[in-house]
Amino acid sequence: MKINFKKKFTWLITGGAGFIGSNLIKFLIKKKQNIICIDNLETGFKKNINYKNYKNFKFLKIDIRKLKSSNLKKKKIDFIIHLAALGSVPRSFNNPQKTNSVNVDGSLNIIKICQEIKCKKLVFASSSSIYGNSKKNIKSENDRQNPISPYGVSKATFENYAEILANFYKLKIIGLRFFNVFGPNQNEKGAYSAVIPKWLGLLNKDKTIQINGDGTTSRDFTYIDNVVNAIILSCFKNTNNYFEIFNIACQKTINLNYVLKKLVYYMRLNKKKIKIKNLPFKKGDIKMSLANINKAKKLLNYKPMIQFDQGLEIYINNKIKKNKSI
Ligand SMILES: NC(=O)c1ccc[n+]([C@@H]2O[C@H](COP(=O)([O-])OP(=O)(O)OC[C@H]3O[C@@H](n4cnc5c(N)ncnc54)[C@H](O)[C@@H]3O)[C@@H](O)[C@H]2O)c1
Repeated sequence: MKINFKKKFTWLITGGAGFIGSNLIKFLIKKKQNIICIDNLETGFKKNINYKNYKNFKFLKIDIRKLKSSNLKKKKIDFIIHLAALGSVPRSFNNPQKTNSVNVDGSLNIIKICQEIKCKKLVFASSSSIYGNSKKNIKSENDRQNPISPYGVSKATFENYAEILANFYKLKIIGLRFFNVFGPNQNEKGAYSAVIPKWLGLLNKDKTIQINGDGTTSRDFTYIDNVVNAIILSCFKNTNNYFEIFNIACQKTINLNYVLKKLVYYMRLNKKKIKIKNLPFKKGDIKMSLANINKAKKLLNYKPMIQFDQGLEIYINNKIKKNKSI
């Protein structure tokens, strides 16, 4: 589907200072769109959204639980892209109350705003974590929700709310179940960072890589550009129902041993020097994750344009260019 960006739309993006949000904003700024970014900077960074010279970008430092439509100063908003959330399975075990408060209560507040401002569509980030350790090897949208962490429960719960409220209030809402996204601006520091940026940071400092389990844990790793494309398609493609949910991934499962091998290769490191420590399998972690993406292909014209190896190479080369070393 060819998307006509000649028209200037106004986009409200929650969680815009985070990894996925900042990549989406970068794309939309290239298309000269109007953007309002909402973020409380809990896990995101101001440096990710440094657009002082772009007059159609506005940043509001607000918690999504406290956002009111009056904060938006009667601006006509076309699309809401709701990405703000507290991610990470371990974080959700440490503080399930806060995960629930942001990911469920905060998200319900965004639906309320969507209703009040009458935007064209609300697209929100769900997650592969709603499938948990389901017995089926390949996860399809019609499978039963089976979360095994408070984070997964928060995402599944909001999906259920969104479906009921979309149908009741006749709102167009799309939920996208992202599967392990990776790419630039992903946080590599801290206990809750994702495996690829974390390992990249450790390898660069010659530090020990920790693998939970034997390295055969696998994920449908998805390069960020595919996700940005899926969000844009969700906004412009007409779907018949008020509510739809889609898996967004590459439909390929990649295990951690392979990820490490490729990191070593693309970073041009000497394999012998890599220090690895095997730790027990993490509580609440899913063993294998693989998406069926046929529904997104059919209804959104979604196609993963960048596969894992290529995405990893682009990501690493970008980092090398930025920092000279990684
Ligand atoms: N990255 C992935 O692999 C992945 C996979 C599945 C789903 N998701 C979902 O996609 C969305 C974006 O993820 P991400 O990887 O960019 O995470 P991120 O942590 O980089 O970004 C989330 C952003 O939300 C902001 N935020 C958190 N709590 C907030 C609050 N109460 N009010 C306002 N802003 C708040 C953070 O400061 C941050 O900038 C999240 O909903 C996440 O659950 C991500």
